[in-house]
Amino acid sequence: MEQLNVLLIGSGGREHALAWAISRSALLKKLYIAPGNPGTAQLGENVMLDVDDFDEVLTFAEDNHIDLVVIGPEQPLVDGITDYLEDYGINVFGPSKAAAMLEGSKSFAKSIMQKSTIPTAGYEVFDRHEISKLEAYLQEQAVYPVVLKADGLAAGKGVFICDNYHEANEYLDRIMNDVNLSAAASVIVVEEFMTGEEVSVFAFADGNTARYLMHAQDHKRIGDGDTGLNTGGMGAYAPAPVLDDEGVEFVMNTIVNPMIDAMSSEETPYKGVLYCGLMMTTEGPKVVEFNCRFGDPECQVMMPALKSDLLELMLMTVNGKLEYAAIDVEPGYFCSVVMASTGYPNEYEKGFEITGLDAVAGKNEVFFSGVKADENGRLLTNGGRVLNVIGHGDSLKEAIEDAYSGVQKISFENAYFRNDIGVKGLRYFSK
Ligand SMILES: Nc1ncnc2c1ncn2[C@@H]1O[C@H](COP(=O)(O)OP(=O)(O)O)[C@@H](O)[C@H]1O
Ligand SMILES: [Mg+2]
Repeated sequence: MEQLNVLLIGSGGREHALAWAISRSALLKKLYIAPGNPGTAQLGENVMLDVDDFDEVLTFAEDNHIDLVVIGPEQPLVDGITDYLEDYGINVFGPSKAAAMLEGSKSFAKSIMQKSTIPTAGYEVFDRHEISKLEAYLQEQAVYPVVLKADGLAAGKGVFICDNYHEANEYLDRIMNDVNLSAAASVIVVEEFMTGEEVSVFAFADGNTARYLMHAQDHKRIGDGDTGLNTGGMGAYAPAPVLDDEGVEFVMNTIVNPMIDAMSSEETPYKGVLYCGLMMTTEGPKVVEFNCRFGDPECQVMMPALKSDLLELMLMTVNGKLEYAAIDVEPGYFCSVVMASTGYPNEYEKGFEITGLDAVAGKNEVFFSGVKADENGRLLTNGGRVLNVIGHGDSLKEAIEDAYSGVQKISFENAYFRNDIGVKGLRYFSK
């Protein structure tokens, strides 16, 4: 088979994990990562592109004979990078702008789900300009708790769970007055509150066919026992036993396949990886949201777990060949613990040297998030989430122990991590 030049866009732990998996592909000729991080620099060539400037990306892709561009984060997808590059004949792994609306507009995702009777929370949609109607709704009709959501991309800061009208009003004020939310909150979605355990299901889709990849559970809160502030994610494990094989089949039949069919009949076929954020309610799995890319930190456990060639699967996705794909996964369990900077998700200090990586080499995979190299090649902390330590085991318990044995060997000043990543899953085995 012909070998490919690949350009991967992004710089976080997710992209380090994607670069790791792509670099192992038999189909790879050369991997470039823009902008990448010191971890991806070990696996390919980092290139300093302004990835918001699609023309710059295009020029690089043409000059370097790139056969496939892989998009890590959601923003460029929602901004239409796929359409832009495809217009010039460049293959892109990641949905079109219209299909990325599944993540880019929560009200759009809700309306498609409603049309296709895909299980999700009941909802109402309000325009920013009819705020008094929304206030009246919150006062007279809403059943509390209620969930307020800014419609557009808000980097995880646009969702508020409100216990009563007073709180709803307070959050509404915040949504309306926060300059960072004004674009995302041109429309506000009010959702029924669901209870249950959350799980993320990932599938590849080529426009017509969807193939289940894996499912994982994230840990959003900063503190042990799911306490404290929301973060980008403090760790993940896969597979999460909250969803068994039968559950996966049910999710594919009632959520993923109907959504791929709906997108294709809307003439916005979905190509890429579909991330279904689900709530396991007493009435069965319901959709919390869709994302149009891999999850971070879920990607960091899924890539080491994937036995199949990632690049081959990405090509089959782009070329509409997924019906011929078989996805193989390593047996056992995978766990990823995020080592962060104390203070995150608020203020934190950075620039501290990271040591102990040699001690885990060959034992644990480590994927970098906020890490930079100084001029002497020393690795320094450079973000809230610093790095991800991966463990593997025949049982979930062993995978967790393996990840934490790696964490114990790595150190930097002001390091913080949760002590209970994966623990929620253990109770399924103690019955
Ligand atoms: N309808 C709902 N009922 C209960 N919790 C919800 C609901 N919608 C969202 N949440 C909680 O809020 C979190 C963030 O919501 P989500 O829709 O995933 O937005 P985003 O990831 O874009 O911030 C979810 O992971 C979930 O914990
Ligand atoms: Mg979410």
